[in-house]
Amino acid sequence: MNDTLRHGHLQENPAHAEYGTSYGRIKPEGVDTTHGAILYLEDITVSFDGFKAINRLTMDISVGELRCIIGPNGAGKTTMMDVITGKTRPTSGTAWFGQTIDLTRLSEPEIAHAGIGRKFQRPTVFEQHTVFENLELAMKMDKRVRPTLFFRLSSEQQGKIEEILKLIRLTGQENRLAGLLSHGQKQWLEIGMLLMQEPQLLLLDEPVAGMSDAETARTAELLNELRGKHSIMVVEHDMAFVTEIAQQGKVTVLHEGSVLAEGTMQQVQNDERVIEVYLGR
Ligand SMILES: Nc1ncnc2c1ncn2[C@@H]1O[C@H](COP(=O)(O)OP(=O)(O)OP(=O)(O)O)[C@@H](O)[C@H]1O
Ligand SMILES: [Mg+2]
Repeated sequence: MNDTLRHGHLQENPAHAEYGTSYGRIKPEGVDTTHGAILYLEDITVSFDGFKAINRLTMDISVGELRCIIGPNGAGKTTMMDVITGKTRPTSGTAWFGQTIDLTRLSEPEIAHAGIGRKFQRPTVFEQHTVFENLELAMKMDKRVRPTLFFRLSSEQQGKIEEILKLIRLTGQENRLAGLLSHGQKQWLEIGMLLMQEPQLLLLDEPVAGMSDAETARTAELLNELRGKHSIMVVEHDMAFVTEIAQQGKVTVLHEGSVLAEGTMQQVQNDERVIEVYLGR
């Protein structure tokens, strides 16, 4: 691939200055992000029996960026995440993770192992286990942690769990069964479980769907705390929430499988085409 095409338009990301926080590392290990991009989708098309759910989609995400993706139902947002995570193979096009990893050649587990974590809409926590155990299990599922028969948490690992508990607003609830948490708390726990594995890229598909207003507001706070520490892609229909987390960052509008517009929330909100196909409805 042409390097200028792939990276020429990428700008230095201020988030680079924040390398090395205690639980998150921006600098992906094994992922070459020397040109600043964590993800580069190049001319992706996904056809389902001739119907193009994704149509020549090109976009990139910088290291440490929190990118919001919006667009009408059926725009291809979830399908795009399916391509990134290896669930769906594109009919054509390439998906680069960093400079060198071609995601279209990897299996779903290989992609997860390479450092892409995905949260689906429905919370998937271990309901019969406590909050703490869920986070501990997530750590054990991390392939980089050497499995041992008698797994004992080091004080560092214990500290990390405590830090995540605080982040996901579940300090003091660590001994509750996950099944007894509210819907919003389960969603936060699942985000916490993904964070335990220190993903280099986190994909969240409609994280606040079904949440109360208070839970939605807290989720926005949570994501704002993660800003710059992880590269994150968030798909949402809740525009108040998107405005809250997009701040001055980029928002991408998908429509009929392609990028319709890209810019700050204010820019895309004032874009006639975006108003016509989505926001004006
Ligand atoms: N496996 C499939 N087979 C056939 N068509 C599919 C398949 N998966 C998705 N589609 C179609 O592709 C289009 C894009 O779907 P997708 O789920 O990606 O949209 P979306 O932007 O996530 O929408 P929403 O906001 O409703 O979640 C839709 O028209 C959908 O019906
Ligand atoms: Mg969807």
